[in-house]
Amino acid sequence: MTVADLTRSEEWAALKRHRQALAKTRIADLFRQDSDRFSKFSLALDEFAFDFSKNLVTEETMRLLRDVARAADVAGWRDRMFAGERINSTEDRAVYHVALRHQGATPMMVDGKDVMPDVRRVWDQMRRFATAVREGNWRGATGERIETVINIGIGGSDLGPAMAVQALRPFCHPEIRFHFVSNVDGAHLQAALAQADPASTLFIVSSKTFTTQETLANAKAARAWLTARLSPDAVPKHFVAVSAAVDKAGVFGIAPENVFGFWDWVGGRYSMWCAIGLPIAVALGWEGFERLLAGAHAMDRHFRGAPAERNIPLTMGLIALWNIDFLGAAAYAMLPYAQDLARLPAYLQQLEMESNGKGVRRDGKPVKCATGPVLFGEPGTNGQHAFYQLIHQGTQRVFCDFILAARDRSGYPELHRLLSANFLAQSQALMFGKSAAEAQAEMREAKMKAGQARALAPHRSFSGDRPSNSILIGELDPYHLGKLVALYEHKTFVLGVLWGINSFDQWGVELGKQLANDILSGNGVARDGSTAGLKALYDAWQE
Ligand code: F6P
Repeated sequence: MTVADLTRSEEWAALKRHRQALAKTRIADLFRQDSDRFSKFSLALDEFAFDFSKNLVTEETMRLLRDVARAADVAGWRDRMFAGERINSTEDRAVYHVALRHQGATPMMVDGKDVMPDVRRVWDQMRRFATAVREGNWRGATGERIETVINIGIGGSDLGPAMAVQALRPFCHPEIRFHFVSNVDGAHLQAALAQADPASTLFIVSSKTFTTQETLANAKAARAWLTARLSPDAVPKHFVAVSAAVDKAGVFGIAPENVFGFWDWVGGRYSMWCAIGLPIAVALGWEGFERLLAGAHAMDRHFRGAPAERNIPLTMGLIALWNIDFLGAAAYAMLPYAQDLARLPAYLQQLEMESNGKGVRRDGKPVKCATGPVLFGEPGTNGQHAFYQLIHQGTQRVFCDFILAARDRSGYPELHRLLSANFLAQSQALMFGKSAAEAQAEMREAKMKAGQARALAPHRSFSGDRPSNSILIGELDPYHLGKLVALYEHKTFVLGVLWGINSFDQWGVELGKQLANDILSGNGVARDGSTAGLKALYDAWQE
C-alpha cells in the first residue's frame, strides 16, 4: 500500500509559508482586528459549542488546513470507516464503533453482512441484565441483592466505563457502588474488596481478548476471594464476563448466558459503547445508556454530514495539526472544569496516545512530521495550582482544551460561578499574557520600590499567545458525554488520516508484555546489568 507523504505536498508547503507570514501576528491581535472573531471561529451542535478562536488562526489558515484535509482524503477515509471497510490495515479489521451507537433501521455492513442484528441482540441481553441487577431481581448465591459491582479489566476494558460512571455520578443507581480494578498491583483489588461483602458483590470481567495477563490474574484472585467466603458453586451468580472471545470466558467458568459478546471490529479504546459499557448500563439504567449512545450518534451524524467549514471533529483535528506540526506544540493539556470528569484525561490518553503515538505510516515508511503529542490533564481548578505554571510561563508549547458544563448539578451555584470564572479566565490569561511593563506598573501601584519592581518584572510577566480550545456543553449528562467522547474519537481519527498512520493498532504495547513474560519465566533478567541488579535487590528485600 502506498501512502502519499502529505509533508511533501503543495498544500503542506502552502501552510508552512502561511505560518511564516503569521510569524509576527499574535492571537490577541486577531481579536483586536475582528470583533466578530468568536462567531467566525466557533462551531455548535445544539448545546455543544466548540470555540477555537483563541488559536493563531485566520480564515486563510482554516482554508489552507482544509486543503490539507482534502489532499489527505479525510472525507474518503471517513466514508470508508462508516462503510465498514477494513481500514485497520495491520490487523486486517474494520473499525466500526459507529455501528454500536447506530440508530434507526438502516443496515451497517461489514463484509457484506449487516451487523445490527448482533448489536441489538447484545443490547437486549445487556438491558435485561442491567435491569435485573438494578431492580434486585439478579441475586447473589445466598439471595442477596447486588450492592457492589467490581469491573475487572484494563485499558479500553476499564477506562471508558470507569470514566463514564464517575462523570455521570448523579445519574447512577444510588444503592449500588462501583469499583474499577485494572492494575495488577494487588493493592488495587484489595482496596475494592475491602469495601465489599461477597454475598452482594458482582464481578464483571472485561477483556476483549480474554488473554490479558493483568485482568486474568485479578479475576482469578477475585474468584478465590469469593469462593473462600461463599463456595465454588457461587461463581455463576457473582461473575459475568464481557469479551469478543466468548469461548475463553467459558473456560474461566462463566456460564455462556452470562458472557456478553462483541466483535473484532470494535477496538479496545473505542469499546465503551458495546458490552464493555455494561457497568455504565447497570449504573445508569438502560434509558441512560441509550442516551449516551444517542449523543455519540448525533456526533457521528454531524461528522459524516456537516460541510468541512462547519464540521467540529474535522476542525478540531486540523487545529491540533496546526498546533503540533506548524507551531511546535509537544504537549496537549486536557482541562475539564468538572470534578466528575476527573478520569477523562486518562481516558483520552489511551484514545489519543495509543491511537496516534506512532512513527510509521500505513505503508511502513517513517512519518516525516511530529505525530501524537503527550496528553495530560486534571480537572480545573486543581490543575491551576499544580502544573499550569508550566503552561503559562514554561519554554515548551502546550496547547489546551478547556471543558465546562454550563448548568450546575452540584447544588452549589456559587461554587459553579467561581468554577466558570476560572474556566473563562485561564484561556484569556494564556492568550493575552502580561507584558513586563504591565507587570511593573502593577507592582508600582501596589507601592513597590522601582528597583524591586524592575527586578521582578521578568518573573511576573507572561508571554501570552498560548493557544487553547474551549468546549462548552449545556449539562454533563449521558447525552452530552456521548457527544463529547465521540468528538474526541473522530478528531483522533482525522489526525491519524492526516499523518497517514493506522490509528487502530497498538503494536507498541507488545514488547513490554513479551519481556514481562520472559522475566516471569526467569529468562529475561540476565539480559542487562540494570535489570539483573534490580531483580537481585527485589529478591534480597523479600526477607
Ligand atoms: O494495552 C494494549 C491493549 O490491547 C489495549 O489496547 C486494550 O484496551 C487493553 O490492552 C486491554 O485488552 P483486553 O480488553 O483484550 O483485555
